[in-house]
Amino acid sequence: MSEPANKKARFASPPEVKYTQIFINNEWVNSVSGKTFPTINPSTGEKICDVQEGDKADIDIAVDAACEAFKLGGTWRTMDASKRGVLLNKLADLIERDHEYLARLETLDNGKPFKDAYNTDVVLAIKCYRYYAGWSDKIQGKTIPTDGNVFTFTRHEPVGVCAQIIPWNFPLVMQAWKLAPALCCGNTIVMKVAEQTPLTALYVAALSKEAGFPPGVINVVPGYGPTAGGALTTHPKVDKVAFTGSTEVGRIVKQAAGASNLKRVTLELGGKSPNIVLADADLDHAVETSHFALFFNQGQCCCAGSRTFVHESIYDEFVAKSIVRAKNRRVSHPENNDCEQGPQVDQEQFDKIMGLIDVGKKEGATLECGGTRVGDKGYFIAPTIFTGVTDEMRISQEEIFGPVMQIMKFSTIEEVIERANKTIYGLAASIFTQNLDNALTLAQGIRAGSIWVNCYDILEACNPFGGFKQSGNGRELGEYGLQQYTEIKCVTIKVPQKNS
Ligand code: NAI
Ligand code: MG
Repeated sequence: MSEPANKKARFASPPEVKYTQIFINNEWVNSVSGKTFPTINPSTGEKICDVQEGDKADIDIAVDAACEAFKLGGTWRTMDASKRGVLLNKLADLIERDHEYLARLETLDNGKPFKDAYNTDVVLAIKCYRYYAGWSDKIQGKTIPTDGNVFTFTRHEPVGVCAQIIPWNFPLVMQAWKLAPALCCGNTIVMKVAEQTPLTALYVAALSKEAGFPPGVINVVPGYGPTAGGALTTHPKVDKVAFTGSTEVGRIVKQAAGASNLKRVTLELGGKSPNIVLADADLDHAVETSHFALFFNQGQCCCAGSRTFVHESIYDEFVAKSIVRAKNRRVSHPENNDCEQGPQVDQEQFDKIMGLIDVGKKEGATLECGGTRVGDKGYFIAPTIFTGVTDEMRISQEEIFGPVMQIMKFSTIEEVIERANKTIYGLAASIFTQNLDNALTLAQGIRAGSIWVNCYDILEACNPFGGFKQSGNGRELGEYGLQQYTEIKCVTIKVPQKNS
């Protein structure tokens, strides 16, 4: 296995960090408490810089700014809907202008391979802003034939002040999934970014000002979950909270929303998604795509295909090929040209994953490869495969969120549907088969928000994404995503009777 830290990196020096403060009302400010927190480079474990640590006092100021920006008659509320689209497109243009810089900053703060940050994260973010730019002036109500001599129409109005709490696994993409639909509908925003990865979101905040968004429409507060995040979820003036992260915190967010002002809640949470390979699958394609489904982004995907079910007739061959592929996965410094896998995001995630690898061994699963740290600094873990995994083991029930694959054997379609659904989650699933009937039977039988057949991680802005069961509430993206950011107002007007 390669030694990540010793390999020659693509760039001579790290990208310059330009923004480390709190962004409120289009201004950069320090935290009221004067506190800061360090953000760490996962490739080395060393500090990149200190960032201002927002907590309740800063959230209160940011929410006031967002309320002010949402006032009727203000610049944002009177702006033409089409102009909101222009601003979103402008933001996309600016991200495109700084494409390489943003990808480098993401790699520095998150540890993901530069090639992925450049080709996937930044690209998906740009496409998401452009997609919702197009929706801005197409959010339409209805006219309704109410009984009586009245005229009824509906308006889809913005919800108001939206709190958005995002995780660290795809910082730029998660920011785009939250900001773009909320802004196109005319909401104002206070976003709390993940404490592990605040840097790119702050840079995009600066770009939003450059694009021309009015003060107070977008506010970005770096800080910790229980403090800054908690202040948002309990805030009486916040109309809606959109959260992406763990199911555990999703529960807290929903309770806080209910206990405070019943703010609207959308949740995009964890998963333990089944990846099902039938006997008639194109085997090499299934091996490669199942590998991608699990190991992409260091295994840190909510929708990772983390329970690989393989038909008994091809199981041995599938396992053998998957082990070869995992052993060949190139783990190295994320700026290296050939890097496929960088470090995990932080020490906490590294420890959690190594802990669950230990659990897998103790529960009696067979460790086929990996299971160890790579290098002596940073949070690199060797691609790991367990076979002989049973449905009851913790490694097949809990979200590992790391480069650890569980391969299970099945015999019949009925059996695999039942086993695939035997989890608290329902985010995604994939099916590998050449048989349309089987694909449809499985697609119908599995309770999950996204089903991919002979492919994985198709996450385009036009497609709704979200979970059944404890994987979340509501859908993000696509036309469906607009529903989460609009309130429906029904206006009925009495038509005057004509005296004839
Ligand atoms: P987390 O759920 O604690 O963090 C996600 C976001 O929520 C962060 O911005 C965090 O600061 C915030 N947060 C934490 N506690 C909060 C609270 N009480 N109130 C409001 N906001 C709060 O996830 P964490 O600790 O980073 O990772 C733990 C596990 O969660 C991972 O191992 C993984 O299994 C899962 N996870 C799932 C993600 C997904 O995309 N579905 C993303 C990140 C983590
Ligand atoms: Mg946490």
